[in-house]
Amino acid sequence: MPLQTTVLAGNPVSHSSDLLALCVREGAVVRGTIADARLADLDRAVGGVLLRCVIDEEFKGAEGQHLSLHSHGKAGPQRILVLGLGREKDQDRTLDQLRGAAARAVKAAKAAGAKTLAIAWPWAADAALQREVQAAAEGASLGAYVFERYKKEKKPFKLQRVELLSPVKPARAIVEAARYGVAIAEAVNAARDLVNEPAGRITPRALAAEARHIAKVHGLQCQVLPRAQIKKLGMNLFLGVAQGSVEEPQLVKLSWEPRRATGRPVALVGKAITFDSGGLSLKTASGMEDMKVDMAGAAAVISALRLVAALKPPFAVHGYFGACENMPSGNAYKPGDVIVGKSGTSVEVLNTDAEGRLVLADVLAWAVEEKPAAVIDLATLTGAILVALGPWITGLFSNDDALAGELQAAARTAGEPIWRMPLPPEMDELIKSPVADLKNTGGRYGGAINAALFLQHFVGKVPWAHLDIAGPASVDKERGYNPRGGTGAGVRLLAEWIRRRAE
Ligand code: BES
Ligand code: MN
Ligand code: ZN
Repeated sequence: MPLQTTVLAGNPVSHSSDLLALCVREGAVVRGTIADARLADLDRAVGGVLLRCVIDEEFKGAEGQHLSLHSHGKAGPQRILVLGLGREKDQDRTLDQLRGAAARAVKAAKAAGAKTLAIAWPWAADAALQREVQAAAEGASLGAYVFERYKKEKKPFKLQRVELLSPVKPARAIVEAARYGVAIAEAVNAARDLVNEPAGRITPRALAAEARHIAKVHGLQCQVLPRAQIKKLGMNLFLGVAQGSVEEPQLVKLSWEPRRATGRPVALVGKAITFDSGGLSLKTASGMEDMKVDMAGAAAVISALRLVAALKPPFAVHGYFGACENMPSGNAYKPGDVIVGKSGTSVEVLNTDAEGRLVLADVLAWAVEEKPAAVIDLATLTGAILVALGPWITGLFSNDDALAGELQAAARTAGEPIWRMPLPPEMDELIKSPVADLKNTGGRYGGAINAALFLQHFVGKVPWAHLDIAGPASVDKERGYNPRGGTGAGVRLLAEWIRRRAE
């Protein structure tokens, strides 16, 4: 049952709920006295015990700090959780502090067996408020996510309602902002589900079926092309990767088409390897353990498109992915094979485990045919990006400084860490082949960069950005509002980027 999150007028002291999460800034308590007005009100209501807890536990409001007590019927909420937001920096940081606090509040409410949770924080007085309400709503549903479909015993969970407490009757735009925040989190959670589902379930067909289903529910168009059509389009690189598997490859295009479109469409392309064994250049057993995540780019594209249907931008948005498995077999493509894909560029395959760039090359070549205003690909493309940026940061590569800047700004607001990487032209030499136009590996050094340089050959002059999400697409243990496993990386970033372009 999905969590119901609403925004309504309520005084945290008197509003009745099973649990109140009151979020306060660092500095809400200084030298044993309460500086925050609402914290002081609450302390008065409960007869001063809040202040005693604050002193005993040295609570200051630092980010992640918390304090929990029972109101013993002296205030509206049965239990009180005071959550530290940390210091105020900039608005984007505030939004992420709120996502984190709302997620922590939901987890505490679940643990306490609360049915209703009220969340209050120092509301911004201006237009920033809408974004804050959206972020809190996002955080609540992101924090509520669990993947336990395959557990016999599900964790009992009574929480039904989250109420974001507004000091005044919320304006319509604020109510809308809460709804949009919930929609975002649901889209992120759907992407997490797709990544967390085992590869035995999310086959290329199942992923295509999911795209079709999402299109139907959200009013998008969806085209699914089987092997014969992919062949007709000349996508031999894609088919080369797919040929070692008994699973049929599927080429998918999801479209948002406004009634009277203004400007060129934008294209989003996701890597959709439903399982990456490495092919004949087989991965190690441990290297394969998490390779069901290799379709996380496509999961993000599907979820971004469903948010596009809610945002209704005046320009068209097209989502593309080529779904297949990368498997070793008697039919598999081989190291040394030379393949000419859709664009006519020949590629020498030196390592069948560098398969993502091959599929993306053909799908990007297709996506740029309609001359989009911008094309963005998302891919769990290289282990090397984890070496470069660590496990939590997305690598951004772009041939267009304006587009890169837009994505960096959108990522900050969305709370998704990204870092721009270079595309040094002189490194192109590393992916030149003696027998073909390109080879699909560029050696051990700068692996994420030469993968991006490879993709660049297939986008022509179209403004293009490549997001290597191999790190943040999944995490090995819970981290803030991201659960263990799939995170839905890229969904919030793409939605925010589209929202800004639509303004
Ligand atoms: N899907 C992998 C990259 C990956 C690694 C994703 C870790 C998520 C976590 C990709 O297809 C791959 O195997 N890349 C190779 C490229 C190499 C053979 C040039 C890699 O990074 O080792
Ligand atoms: Mn691979
Ligand atoms: Zn891969």
